Amino acid sequence: MPKQEVKLHYKNVMADVIGDEHGITPEQLKDLAEKTSPLILRLNKERQAGETPYRDLPYNSQITQEVRELVKELRGRCENLVVFGIGGSALGNIALHTALNSYMHNIDENQRTGPRLFVFDNIDPPQIVSFLEWLGDKLDKTIFNAISKSGWTAETAAQFMIVCQLLLEKLGPDDCKKQIITTTDANQGILRRIANNAGFKSLIIPEGIGGRFSVLSAVGLFSAAMCGIDIDSLLEGARDMDTRVKCEDFYKNPAAINAAINYHLYNRGKKISVMMPYSYSLKDLSDWYRQLWAESLGKAEDLAGNEVHIGPTPVKALGTTDQHSQVQLYREGLNDKLFTFLQVRNFDKDIKIGPAPDYAPELGFLAGKDLSELLNNEKRATEYALLESKRPCLTVVFPEVNAYTVGQFIYLYEVTTSFAGALFNINPYDQPAVELGKEAAFALMGRQGYEELAQEIKPLTKIDENFLV
Ligand code: PA5
Repeated sequence: MPKQEVKLHYKNVMADVIGDEHGITPEQLKDLAEKTSPLILRLNKERQAGETPYRDLPYNSQITQEVRELVKELRGRCENLVVFGIGGSALGNIALHTALNSYMHNIDENQRTGPRLFVFDNIDPPQIVSFLEWLGDKLDKTIFNAISKSGWTAETAAQFMIVCQLLLEKLGPDDCKKQIITTTDANQGILRRIANNAGFKSLIIPEGIGGRFSVLSAVGLFSAAMCGIDIDSLLEGARDMDTRVKCEDFYKNPAAINAAINYHLYNRGKKISVMMPYSYSLKDLSDWYRQLWAESLGKAEDLAGNEVHIGPTPVKALGTTDQHSQVQLYREGLNDKLFTFLQVRNFDKDIKIGPAPDYAPELGFLAGKDLSELLNNEKRATEYALLESKRPCLTVVFPEVNAYTVGQFIYLYEVTTSFAGALFNINPYDQPAVELGKEAAFALMGRQGYEELAQEIKPLTKIDENFLV
């Protein structure tokens, strides 16, 4: 059977379709090919030199082996898997879960083959308290996976400390250990120190891989495999996409073309990039993409140290839901957006629409049709409406949503991000602006060594009664 390839459809960003003012002319595409082709070679070289280790994750059999061994050991006694993490240490897990586990996974045991999954990427007190109340005496059937690359993120540390206390009180030190898995750097960070000292089981995030590029490491693979997701197919999809995104022919390289189109349209005023899946299961992949794109490309300085303040603003939307919330703006507001639809050709589950009631024969046009036909036609209808308003539209076509195609999509967008970073001439792998916020939170919470910063922040962020209305 031929492999199911995820493809990028880019006809509807071309000037032939939406005109010269907003579209890309064949000459401009040729220029983009000339500009981007050397970058394909550059990225391939950087990868060979070990500068972009995320590129090799789909080939890392040591990680999969370690994940598999742990899953084998834990799955039988785990009814609930709780992931603590934030940003790149959570969004990939959530995206894989929504895409590849059934919608009612947590509610209906017949629809799941592993534990329920809860990913906490926030520290909202009522949310955590409500969850712990539900968890009650199920602690011994629950595995807690704390994920932090740096090992220092305050939110994840706080969640972890709350649960450690609970486990110690309820189960005692020996059994407490059995319920905790840490995923962190091999040597650095406080989470590593805790894991080593307390003797917690631990998975490793390889060096040089930032959170938002880590979903195909133990960060995303452990919870996926615990819940029964086929991680072999996921990684195979990523590897097969790798052969396509390292292809030196620009016109055959979906990541290079995708990045070049995004770059060109950004420079022509499309500063906002809307990703709009027409499949509920893909909705959290657009959330994952939002972080990948924003943290990687939103930069103050270029590689030469010039102040540039650059970066497309990624926005997530969901079809059809946001047709009824955002499309008015998308069609009639500023023409400052590039739209990327995610479309699924065949849904693994489908349902026929029932007959029209006798007293509403006008609804006969829907009767007996597959619900997926309506969904996909809604996508086409929205795309048509946007094209009528001269808005550029890309579509990523999934033959089906499964681990293999999701693996392809993840790798496609990771490498697209690397190409976009090269085109914008910025470093897509750091996040200095996030770090400052983390340090400010340490300072305000009284961490030693941050006293001066705390003094600087306090007057600036205090609620001033004179300005309260
Ligand atoms: O992509 C990134 O590097 C960040 O978004 C991090 O994932 C996020 O800040 C969490 O960091 P850590 O995994 O170190 O706790």
